[in-house]
Parts: sequence; structure tokens; C-alpha cells
Amino acid sequence: MFRFIFAFILMLPAFAQRPGTNYDEAKVPRYTLPDPLILRNGQPVRDARTWTQKRRPEIFDLFEKQMFGQVPQRSPKIAFELEDIDESALGGKAIRKQVSIRIAGKPVHLLLYLPAGVRGPVPVFLGLNFTGNHTIDADPGIRLAEVWLFDKETRSLVKRVAPDTQRGSASSRWPVEMILSRGYGVATIYYGDIEPDFKDGLVHSVRRLLLKPGEGEPGPSEWGAIGAWAWGLSRALDYLETDKAVDAKKVAVIGHSRLGKTALWAGAADTRFALVVSNDSGEGGAAISRRRFGETVENLNTSFPHWFCTNYKQYSGREDELPFDAHMLLALIAPRPLYVASAAEDLWADPRGEFLAAVAAGPVYELLGRKGLGTDKMPGLHQPTGDTVRYHIRAGKHDITDYDWAQFLDFADRHLKR
Ligand code: GCU
Repeated sequence: MFRFIFAFILMLPAFAQRPGTNYDEAKVPRYTLPDPLILRNGQPVRDARTWTQKRRPEIFDLFEKQMFGQVPQRSPKIAFELEDIDESALGGKAIRKQVSIRIAGKPVHLLLYLPAGVRGPVPVFLGLNFTGNHTIDADPGIRLAEVWLFDKETRSLVKRVAPDTQRGSASSRWPVEMILSRGYGVATIYYGDIEPDFKDGLVHSVRRLLLKPGEGEPGPSEWGAIGAWAWGLSRALDYLETDKAVDAKKVAVIGHSRLGKTALWAGAADTRFALVVSNDSGEGGAAISRRRFGETVENLNTSFPHWFCTNYKQYSGREDELPFDAHMLLALIAPRPLYVASAAEDLWADPRGEFLAAVAAGPVYELLGRKGLGTDKMPGLHQPTGDTVRYHIRAGKHDITDYDWAQFLDFADRHLKR
């Protein structure tokens, strides 16, 4: 049963591809992107200071209030508890730590591997996982996560300790030993610990803990699930800042697909993240919405009404009225290094739209003295392009693979190891 449900969850993206979706470049409407370098009052942004003090806050405010939602101004009590440490994990290659981040008492479990025998604090890749910390590696020392599963008897989703058979089942997406051998640590949290990924997940979410007394749900401009997941990544970074073995000034935030959208928003909202990686994040992530190629705003709002704030619903079928587009989300990362990755068969995520957003974020990077992609010609397969903004498209399906990670590690070497 577990295995069936698990397979079902992994297949969800495929089911989401509906008939009527546009996959024809000739049917992409003509559109004009909002200019990230023109202030709301119509004045051009000519220097870094105007960007940082005026335009960036304007754009951030729009994404916050119209899309991902604001985090309520309340501070829950947060505590870190190191639950266990193994100085000789993975056959001596790693130090493994498991930390409970308690948010108003609610435990969120962080798994951290650091390369063994490395002197000095190390840079770390931090990302959420879909299926439980125990699925990223077969290491028997990882605690089995409590995961959300469909229970046939009650016909509802329930939280249960995952079966042992799931250990390592997502390891193709988490090449832990490769990351460690390159001198990086890797940290992850099961996203369902922060909020389970279904429509009525609010009751089990950190979002519920931050409601005002008497409030039933967040307001129309307040956070959705992606906002909560991104906020959880920042709490993980808070912990990493306390860990002396970690170089918290060199934490790369990474995510695949919906968790790629999450990584982008985490990187935009929290400038402590030193580098941001979006893998196949698609609509609501790196892809230009105005292209209406593959998934659309309406698809997002219909299939995943809990992901974004209520205000975002008004843009279903009205992409041209969005006061921003994906290139401006990417521009919020500037001047920090940003990697956008696509997969050729992942048309639902609109690889070309992801590339074009990276191109259109370029002027902001350049204003801040960095080099963007340096081209507006989409590269061929397996030809990573660009400097502080980098892009590749690889052969194959919607996934995160060793090839992707190898590029991200090279990119991090270039930007974080200097
Ligand atoms: C669905 C969804 C996408 C999302 C993807 C995933 O396909 O429509 O927006 O990125 O799931 O998270 O795998």
C-alpha cells in the first residue's frame, strides 16, 4: 500500500499535464515584460543605490502581496535541539547531524551531512525534500520521517512513520557522496514537516501557528504553502548559523520543481542565502508566465490552491495583468549567483520560458556590476552558459539528476570558493 501511494505522489506532476495545454511556440502570444529597471513612478533606475533602496523593495512588495504572500508579523518561539550526531557516517566519509527545529513546539527535522576530515567551516547546499529525510540516502542512521500518506480505510491523508523500505528511494536526486567529495555539506528537511502539500494542509502547517487569535486562515495577501516552505528554509539557515562546522555565509539554497519555486522565493526573501539554484521550477518559478506555454497561472491556482496567496487567484487567465513576471523574481536574487536549470522533455515547465526569464534578469545583474547570461540565444543540450546567472538544459525528463548537480557544484566552486 505504502509503495503504491508513494509511486502515486511521485507521478502527480505527470497527471497534472492537461489536455488543452499549449506546447506550440507559434501559439505563444505577443507579450511585453514589465521593465525591472523602471520605478513605479515611471522613472528609470540608473544606479545600484536606486535599485537596492527603491526598485527592489517595490518588486519584492508586489511578489509578497500578490503571489507568495506575506509572513505574518509574529515571532513564534524557536528552539534547536541536536538529536544525534554520528562522526563517522557513510563509511567514515561524513559527519551526520539530525536537528529538531521546534517552531512553537512543532518539530521540523533537519538532516545535515558534512564532509569528514575537512578543516574549517564548509559551504552547504540546503534544500527541501518531497518524501522524507530517510529517502535521500540509504544510510540506516537517518531517522524514518513521519510522512503524509493516503489511508484507504479512512480515505484521508494521515501522518505515519514511513516504512523502512523507503530508505534511499530518492537518492538519485540527492547525490550525497558526490556533494561531500566536492567539499560541501548538504542539509535537507521533509517539506511536509513544515506544511503537508494538500489543499487543507493549513491545520498541520506552521502557518496555523502564526495566525492571530480567532483568525481562521491567513489574509488574502498573506502566505501560502510555498511561502511557509521558504520560511522554513530560513529557519534552517538560522540553525546553520549556530553550527560552527558550517560556513553560513556560503549556503546555497536549492530546489526541484515546486521546491524550485520555493528555493527562488526563499532566495528572494532572505538575502543571507549566498547562491540560489532553481531546477525545473517552471510556472510560478523561473518560467515567464506571459508565454502561456505549458502550465499556466490558472492551472496552478486550480490544482494547487494552497501554494500561493489568495490575491494570486485574480491572475488566472490574466497573465498580462501581473505587475511582474518571472524575470523579476530572478532579479530579486541579484547580485547573488543564480543557476536556472531545465530539462528538454519537461515542456510543462516551459524550458524556453525559464531561459528567457534568466535573460531578462540580466540588466539588473549588469547594473549591479555582475555578468548575466551574456546571450539571448538558447544554448543546446548540455551547454551550460553564463557567469553570475547561469543556465543549462539537459536531455531527459522533469527530474534532478547527477548531471544537474555536477553543474551546480562547479558553479558553487566558482562563486563560493573564491
Ligand atoms: C506539477 C505542477 C508544477 C510543479 C510540479 C512538481 O507538475 O503543476 O507546477 O512544479 O508538479 O512539483 O513536480
